[in-house]
This record gives sequence, structure tokens and C-alpha cells, in this order.
Amino acid sequence: MSEYHIPVLLAESVSALITNPDGTYADATFGGGGHTAAVLSRLNDDGRVIAFDRDIDAINGALKDPRLTLVHNNFRFIENYAEQFKRSLDFARDDKGEGFFDGILADLGVSSHQFDTAERGFSFRFEESPLDMRMNQEAKLTAAEVVNSYEEADLERILRLYGEVDGARNMARLVADARSAQELRTTGDLDRAIARMLPRGAEHKVLAKVYQALRIEVNQEMRSLEKFLDGACRSLKPGGRLVVITYHSLEDRMVKNFIKAGNVEGVIQEDVYGRVQAPLEAVNRKPILPSEEEIAGNTRARSAKLRIAQRRADV
Ligand SMILES: C[S@@+](CC[C@H](N)C(=O)[O-])C[C@H]1O[C@@H](n2cnc3c(N)ncnc32)[C@H](O)[C@@H]1O
Repeated sequence: MSEYHIPVLLAESVSALITNPDGTYADATFGGGGHTAAVLSRLNDDGRVIAFDRDIDAINGALKDPRLTLVHNNFRFIENYAEQFKRSLDFARDDKGEGFFDGILADLGVSSHQFDTAERGFSFRFEESPLDMRMNQEAKLTAAEVVNSYEEADLERILRLYGEVDGARNMARLVADARSAQELRTTGDLDRAIARMLPRGAEHKVLAKVYQALRIEVNQEMRSLEKFLDGACRSLKPGGRLVVITYHSLEDRMVKNFIKAGNVEGVIQEDVYGRVQAPLEAVNRKPILPSEEEIAGNTRARSAKLRIAQRRADV
């Protein structure tokens, strides 16, 4: 399992998630199953986990446990699944009250398995990988399609918004110029197209931003996250926990805003008495960060932020 992915902020996230060892929990991002395994180890025989992943490699490699149900789909549909499971006989329980899950965990982004598999095209470390980057291998949109067919202005927007790339306009122009001579098929083609904008000795810093931007677009990560937060919040029982680990500022801002206001824009709505109408309540005001020790053992933990919220009973 550790070869597939080393789980980040494991003890902190799992302790925050579990409020009832007989409860029903969702792991929205199964990956190598590190978080799920830790949750299962703390549940009783009646406890259960429903785990989602849109990558079939994750589902196929899953551990077997009678308390675990796997769903090969996008976590944005979590509310539909919660409704379906709540009605199904296998999941029928005495509690017919509001909500379904006692806790929902999401550990966003890509797994080490995805990142380290050259053919998946997520990493610029492999020079001639196909420009793919799909988390769900059955999805239509690939990174090649984005770089070869998007309008230059859209490329610029993606680079700026999702990658915070300096000089996004110039970079979009370089991509457009290169593709008009020849289609960009591999990571090497892309890197050569933008080579002029890669500072010598620190190429990887800019490339990391460019690849992040493309990955977010290919997988429509922001849209999925927004739908997920809405659905997750409605699927939680009152008092149930939402635990989210993010890896970049855009994601973290969306999660923070949602916890504060109930929408990703962070617009606070009040009732006629001036009471804030947010369905969640923050459990930790500031995000929990990995220790230096954890980062030293797992560099992928370095940008992680953990936010924990609880479903209010009264909204
Ligand atoms: C950081 S990894 C999770 C690692 C996992 N916590 C572990 O301990 O092994 C993120 C996983 O979430 C999946 N994922 C990302 N976005 C998703 C989405 N919208 N729907 C379903 N799965 C998603 C990815 O395919 C990847 O396997």
C-alpha cells in the first residue's frame, strides 16, 4: 500500500473523522486505501466505509473487507450515492433521520501511483510520456486535447487561474505557436514548446505549475470539488464530520469558504435575526499542517492542509 501512496496527515484526519465506531463513513478519495484502512481499523464490526475513486487502478488494488464498499465514480455524486445507499436493504439501519454519513473524508489531488506512472502523463519528470493526465482513464478530455485544441485565451486563463503561472499570456502564445507547426503529443513536446520561459536551474518550479494547471482542467477538479462540498454537506448527519486535505491554495480557499459560508465564494447569508446560515461549523479555526518530521519522510505532504468541520443540527 505504501508503494501506491503514503497517506498524508493520517492520524490527525482519521481521529477528527470518527465520532462513532459503529458509524458509516465515506472516503471520497480511496487511492491506495491508506486512510480507509486506518478508518476500518478503528471501527467495530457494525461500522462501514464507502470509498470512491474515479481511477480504476485504485479500485482494482483495493483491500478486501466486508465493511468496505467501493464505488468507481467521481465523488461529485456523493449525495446520489448516499440517497441510494440509505434506501438499499444492505445498508438499512434503524436511524431514518437526516443525513447518511457520520463522517466524510477527502484527500484531494493525485496519488503517488498516478504521479509516478509514466504512461499517465501527470509528471514532467518523464520526458516523453503521452500528454494524458486523466484520473479516470475512461474520460474523454486529455491534456493533449487541451493544449492542441483550446483557444489561446482559454489556455492563458487556465495557466493563470489553476497554475498561477507568471507570464501566462506569453506561455499560451508559445504553446499556440508550437502546435501550429506540429501537434503536441508528449510531455517532451510541451516542455520544448515553453522552454524559453523555464528559468535555467529552476525549470521544475515553472513546470510544476504548468502541469498542475493542465491536470486541474483535464479533471475538472474545481467543479467536482464544488459539487462534492455541496453534496457531502447534505449527506452528513447532524454532528457528522467533514475532513478535507488540500494541496494548493485554490482548493484550500474553496474548502475554507464553504465551511465558513456554505458556498465556495464565501458569501455569508444571514437569516432575519442576523444568524449566519452556514450548514457547517469549523472544528479547527486554522488548518492543521503536517509536522516537519512527516514532510521529511514524505515530500508530497509539504503543501497539505487539513480542515475539519461539523454539520450543524439547526440549519
Ligand atoms: C491523494 S490520493 C488519495 C490517497 C489516499 N488517501 C491514500 O491514503 O492512499 C487522491 C485520489 O483521489 C482520486 N480522486 C481525485 N479526484 C477525484 C474525484 N473527483 N472523484 C473520485 N476520485 C477522485 C484520485 O484518483 C486519487 O486516487
